Amino acid sequence: MKISQLAQSIEPSATLHLNQTAASLKAQGEPVIHLGGGEPLSKSPDSAITGAEQILQTGEIRYGPVDGIAPLKEAIVDYTEQFYGRRVLPDHIIASAGAKQSVMLALQAIVNPGDEVVFCSPYWVSYPDMVRLAGGVPVIVGPQDGLRPRLDDVRDALTPKTKAVILNSPSNPSGLIVSREFVAELVKLCESRGLYLLMDDIYHRLQFDGREPISAYAFSNAAQDDTQLIILNGVSKTYAMTGFRIGWAIANPTVRKAMARIQGHTTSGPCMVSQHAAVGALRGPQDAADQLRSQLERNRDVLVEEFRTIPGAALTPPDATFYCFPDFSAVDPDSMKLAEMILKTVKVVVVPGTAFGLDGHHRISTCGSEAQLREGLARIRWAVSADGPREIEIAGKRFAKL
Ligand SMILES: Cc1ncc(COP(=O)(O)O)c(C=O)c1O
Repeated sequence: MKISQLAQSIEPSATLHLNQTAASLKAQGEPVIHLGGGEPLSKSPDSAITGAEQILQTGEIRYGPVDGIAPLKEAIVDYTEQFYGRRVLPDHIIASAGAKQSVMLALQAIVNPGDEVVFCSPYWVSYPDMVRLAGGVPVIVGPQDGLRPRLDDVRDALTPKTKAVILNSPSNPSGLIVSREFVAELVKLCESRGLYLLMDDIYHRLQFDGREPISAYAFSNAAQDDTQLIILNGVSKTYAMTGFRIGWAIANPTVRKAMARIQGHTTSGPCMVSQHAAVGALRGPQDAADQLRSQLERNRDVLVEEFRTIPGAALTPPDATFYCFPDFSAVDPDSMKLAEMILKTVKVVVVPGTAFGLDGHHRISTCGSEAQLREGLARIRWAVSADGPREIEIAGKRFAKL
């Protein structure tokens, strides 16, 4: 059976195998702790649920405008003014089925075959395949010095074929942010070279230590009608609404319309019920989002405390999000092998760094409860220690080294 060259060019999910092993261990009654997740586990805000319920009550759930309903676009206009300091027009906005689809549509709207799209490693797992799906060539800038990207490395990666740069800060998988100066310089660099800059801001409100979201608009000289900045965001992470699937892009009207044409022929537009839920979240009280941020910050502190005593692991403390990306290469440079060992020995799921373009590291999520996090890390501590007992009891469960 032949499949297309395009389908063949897409990598299978590096984490699928681990998730399947985890699911089968769980089905056998094993005490699996999942530190591999990528979504908040708190409840979506009441205002989102009410928004969805109200439209459901009408019993009339029809097709809507391809690029999103007017109340959602207006709510995004206000949100952008509040968090980015710029009042954009509804004509600059397109809502989609999650920020993931917004990124994909943006790439499809701007990338020609062979165009290069630059982003930094460790990167969000979907970028390389999204660029390939759009016909482009992913150009990955490796970290040189710590996990934060360096502007010189981005500059060095640009060629006449470069069409766009993607920046994801706060980062999945590292939880790190770049500085205001970095954003300012990157905006200037892209504007001076006529490049698109895709700002994947999906985690921008989940920052710690009093940090505020950084707005790329603050450093851009371009008018909104010609800007090559594309802002990507959504309700999934900030409002614990991953299952609703609502994200958006803010772009110049030409790009926005091109994205809408593609969306019109692929999904016809985002789910109407979810759009009303998103309006509820954006317009409603913001305390659920604030509480989520505070809880994640507490979990970050637990993480830092626990990592001090994990032998062979080097953690760069995250500035934001529910991820961290510790270096376990002193324990085993092969992250897939180590992740499998950790899962089999102590039933903890972590995601190997290869999924994010950097072996030797692992993505560990702090989405769950503090108790789960502490127990998961205690199990990992024992599993990666060369010394100590061959068997151990942690929180009433017995584990033995393989
Ligand atoms: C960096 C990044 N961008 C975009 C997304 C997509 O978010 P969604 O499609 O749920 O809105 C994710 C989700 O994991 C992400 O980590």
